[in-house]
Amino acid sequence: MELSRLGTDLDRAVRAIQEGKLVGMPTETVYGLAANAFDEAAVERIFRAKGRPAFDPLIVHTPSIEGAEPAIAHWPESALKLAERFWPGPLTLLLPKSPNLPDLVTSGLPQVGLRCPNHPLALALLEASGCLLAAPSANRFGRTSPTRPEEVLDELGNEVDYVLDGGPCAVGIESTVLEIDPDGSARVLRLGGLPVEALEEALGSAVPSQLSSSRPSAPGMLYAHYSPGIPVRLMRPEDDPDFEEPSGFIAYQNPSARVRATHTRILSPDGSLERAASGLFRALRELGQHPLRVIYADTLPDWGLGPAINDRLRRAAAAR
Ligand code: TXA
Ligand code: MG
Repeated sequence: MELSRLGTDLDRAVRAIQEGKLVGMPTETVYGLAANAFDEAAVERIFRAKGRPAFDPLIVHTPSIEGAEPAIAHWPESALKLAERFWPGPLTLLLPKSPNLPDLVTSGLPQVGLRCPNHPLALALLEASGCLLAAPSANRFGRTSPTRPEEVLDELGNEVDYVLDGGPCAVGIESTVLEIDPDGSARVLRLGGLPVEALEEALGSAVPSQLSSSRPSAPGMLYAHYSPGIPVRLMRPEDDPDFEEPSGFIAYQNPSARVRATHTRILSPDGSLERAASGLFRALRELGQHPLRVIYADTLPDWGLGPAINDRLRRAAAAR
């Protein structure tokens, strides 16, 4: 790992963005691979660095509600209310795209995903560079998102010019992606760091999820994702598997007697789902570094951040 490309030098990161280079950007969810969203060559560089197919659109990051304006055609009233309530934070809103934003960013779709990240260094980079930043998670395509700065360099090596060190990500899973119609009806296209219950409370109505990987308007929701490079098997409380050795185990609160894994990671001894989310990707990544035949994982409760965590584990289990 080349440590000279990792640090807290904001001026260097700003310069890199303005020169069309790629910067590892800390956010409260996961690290992003950021470039000026209006610099088409830089955006192209993001797709190339990640090995990401061009049909998978990028999220654009804004320092504020007003700051989003160059990227969008207008602010729909219902979406604006949610931004006022939840930004900065782990909520990506799909909004009508400005014709000036390169089509490459949205993979040719008429809507752009926008969010305001709740991390002081991300906000400082957005403000100081004066650029809206397109940033997918800073992992190679199909792999687990980085939640620590060194992991960005491990994933992307020379492809990233500089990584801003903002420490470990507090939320630990990616933002919730929400599509919202002019009449205020909304659907979740990706479960994430903002629980659905919070959205339902704000909107005063049920918010369904539409997580299908086949839906063309959310082409990035590919079913197999978050691969640690080892087969993952998701367990229900009643399962009592024949353990294959050597194996890893991602336990929710405590490793139960039925588990005899070689390496165990406990996500949340006190049961907090926020804590479980913040350590999930690190656990997958660390277990993925051992020569294991399989990684078993507990299924988490079905409320709060539980469904978003289970979604990541299911996609990891579907990957190979
Ligand atoms: O928390 C996050 O959202 C992180 C941090 C860095 O902000 N970013 C992130 O980006 O997870 P990425 O590219 O790994 O995932 C973004 C997903 C896409 O795969 C796609 O499913 C959805 O968001 N998305 C983005 N723009 C969209 C659009 N215009 N229409 C439909 N879905 C979109
Ligand atoms: Mg991603």
